[in-house]
Amino acid sequence: MISFVLNGEPVEADVQPETPLLWVIRDYFKLTGSKFGCGMGLCGVCSMQLDGVSTRTCILPVAAVEGRHVTTIEGLGSAGNLHPVQKAWVDNNVPQCGYCQSGQIISASSLLDRNPEPSDEQIDAAMSGNLCRCGTYPRIKRAIKQVAESKAAAQHYDASAEGGS
Ligand code: FES
Ligand code: FES
Repeated sequence: MISFVLNGEPVEADVQPETPLLWVIRDYFKLTGSKFGCGMGLCGVCSMQLDGVSTRTCILPVAAVEGRHVTTIEGLGSAGNLHPVQKAWVDNNVPQCGYCQSGQIISASSLLDRNPEPSDEQIDAAMSGNLCRCGTYPRIKRAIKQVAESKAAAQHYDASAEGGS
């Protein structure tokens, strides 16, 4: 039995410890937003956040997440309560076929959590492991920058308010 926290809820999975996390999430917990692509840790469509860090789950044995926090695209937001990154994706019409996009959003939100105002180079470095056959890269970058700019604007507003102006 493997125990971990899935999208904020403690869970247990009665599976073989070497089973890749992706299969446990898709087949055991029936959360199918995370996709299977290469199965070799190369394309990023299976990305989930492990303790907040975007991680390839097609090659990660479920035993490695014992006691840790796993967040899938289903845990990031919901249709009625979109995560800011999901909202930016909608605003910028990012997806084409959509297959890679849950992994893209997981990696983008992981980046923005640890670096709220990334440079172009930092965005490229953080997102380079998430491939998109449809070539949506320019829109992905625009959406990430939109979130970063709105965070910067909010911080500026907060600082102004604290200063009494
Ligand atoms: S399916 Fe996991 S990296 Fe490609
Ligand atoms: S939107 Fe089609 S693979 Fe990325």
